[in-house]
Amino acid sequence: MKAVALSPAYPTDLPVWESLSAHFKNDMRSRRISDLFRNNQQRFDSYSLEAGDLFLDYSKNIINANTRELLIQLAREAKVPAAIEAMFMGEPINVSEGRSVLHAALRSKLSDEVALGVPGVSEIWDVLEKMTAFVNGVHAGDIHGVNGRRFKNIVNIGIGGSDLGLVMASRALRNYWQPGINFHSVSNVDGTQLVDLSAQLNPEETLFVICSKSFTTQETMVNANAASEWITDRLGGGAVEHHFAAASTNHEAMDLFGINPDYRFSFWDWVGGRYSIWSAVGLSLALTIGVDRFSEMLAGARRMDQHFRTVPLDQNMPALLALIGIWYNNFFGSESQAILPYDNRLDRLPAFLQQLQMESSGKGVRTDGQPVQSQTGGIIWGEAGSNAQHSFYQLLHQGTRFVPVDFILPLQSSGASQQQHDLAIANCLAQSEALMDGFSMDDEPHRTHPGSRPSNTILMSQLSPSSLGQLIALYEHKVFVEGVIWGINSFDQYGVELGKRLAGDVAPAVSGKADYRGENPSTRRLLERLLSERQRGRAG
Ligand code: F6P
Repeated sequence: MKAVALSPAYPTDLPVWESLSAHFKNDMRSRRISDLFRNNQQRFDSYSLEAGDLFLDYSKNIINANTRELLIQLAREAKVPAAIEAMFMGEPINVSEGRSVLHAALRSKLSDEVALGVPGVSEIWDVLEKMTAFVNGVHAGDIHGVNGRRFKNIVNIGIGGSDLGLVMASRALRNYWQPGINFHSVSNVDGTQLVDLSAQLNPEETLFVICSKSFTTQETMVNANAASEWITDRLGGGAVEHHFAAASTNHEAMDLFGINPDYRFSFWDWVGGRYSIWSAVGLSLALTIGVDRFSEMLAGARRMDQHFRTVPLDQNMPALLALIGIWYNNFFGSESQAILPYDNRLDRLPAFLQQLQMESSGKGVRTDGQPVQSQTGGIIWGEAGSNAQHSFYQLLHQGTRFVPVDFILPLQSSGASQQQHDLAIANCLAQSEALMDGFSMDDEPHRTHPGSRPSNTILMSQLSPSSLGQLIALYEHKVFVEGVIWGINSFDQYGVELGKRLAGDVAPAVSGKADYRGENPSTRRLLERLLSERQRGRAG
C-alpha cells in the first residue's frame, strides 16, 4: 500500500497561523474568562455541545467567537476533514510503517463498510464471534481449568497498550463485572505483581490472558513465562493449554508458547497498541464484564466515530477539543494538561490517556521526516477527583504554571450512594468555578487565587460501557486531529525502541554474565557499583 503524507504544510506556514498569533497577542492573551461571560449572556449555550451521551462545556476557556472561527479555519487549512476521511477509508496514513489506521473499523458494523478492502478488516466479526463463544464458554463453566474448576480469576499479562486500557476500563466498569469473576493485571518487568497475585489466587481457578501484539515484548514474555512456571509447578505441564489464552498478531510465537489454538485470538497490524482495546486485546475485559457489555462499549465508540466523521468542525467534539488543546499548547505555551475525573472508578483514565496522547503526539518530525517547527504533544497527567484536590490543586490554583484542565464528570454514582457522589459533583463544579473566577484579597496576597485558568467539563449521565466507549473514542479522535494539524504521524512509536534495545545490551552485564560493552561512562560506573555491592553481599 502506498504511503501518503497527510499535511504537507507546516502549521506555522498556513495563512491562518499568523492571524491566530495576532489574535492571541492583541485580543486574548490577557483576557479574563469571567469578562467573556459578562460580555455574552449566551456564552454557556454557544460554547457547549452534545455528542451521543457526552456533553462538553467549553465555555470556561480563553476563547471567543473569533478564536473559534480562526481555529476552525486552521483545521480546514490543515485539511482535517480530508484526513478524517482518509483514516476511515483505510488509507495508509501511518506513513512511517506504511499501514492503515483502523481502530474505528473494529467497532464498526459490517454494513458501515469501513475500509472493507483492507486485508484483515473482513475478519473482524469472525474474531468477535470466536471471542463471544470463548467468553460465554468460560462464564457457563464449559471452558474451565485443568481440574474442572470454573475460572474465577482473569489475569491479563501485557504492557502499554496491551494493559493500560484494560486496567482503566475494568476499573471504570467495576459495576458491570460478571458475578464470580475478578480481573487482575500483570505488566511491570520486576515480577512483584505476579508474586503478590500468586500468593492470593488459586491456580485451578485462574485463567491468564497473554496480551501482546508482537508476543516478543520483554516484560510480557518474562511475566508470561513466570506465570507458566507457576501453573506448571502446581498443576502439571499439561495445564498450560487450559489456563492460558492469548491475543496477538504473532501466531508462531503463540504456537511456541503452547497456547491452545481454540484459545488464540488474532488482530492485525493496522491496530496500534494504544488503540487496540476494541480488538482481541479486549479479551480479558470481555471476560470480566461479559460480551454484551463489551459490545455496548464498541457501540458507544461507534457512536462517537459517526459523530466525528459526519458532524461539521464547529460542532465536532473531538475536533473542538483538539483545537482548544492547540490554542493553549502553541499560542499560550502550556506545557501540560491535567485530566481530572470525578469518579474514583476512572482513576486510571489519566494513565491511559498519558500513553494515548504522549506516545501518539510526542513526535519531533513530521510525516515527511522534516523537523517540526512548533511544539507538538504536551505532558498529560492527572488523578481522580478529590484525591487530586488534596495533592496538586494548590499548583493549579496559585502556582505559576498555566495548566488547562479536562474535568470528567459522571452525574450518577457508579455504584455507591448518590448522596456521596453528589459531593463529588459539587467538588468538581466548585473547582472549575474556582479556577475560572479566582479570588482576590488586596491585603492578603497568600490567599489570592488569580483565576482565569481554563477548563473543559465533560459530562455523562452515567459511567457505562457505552459512555466509556464514547469517551475513549473522543480522546482518540482528538489526538488524531492534533496530529494532522502538526503534520506528525500519531501512529508510530519509534521513540520507545532505543531504550528497549539498550536494555537488551545491558542485561548480561547486570546479571554478571558478560562485561558491559557499551560506552556510556555513567552506566559503566553504575554497573561497577551494582556488581561490587553484590560481591560485598556475597562476602557478607
Ligand atoms: O511501549 C511501546 C509499545 O510498543 C506500545 O506501543 C505497546 O502498546 C506496548 O509496547 C506493548 O506491545 P505489545 O502489545 O507488542 O506487547
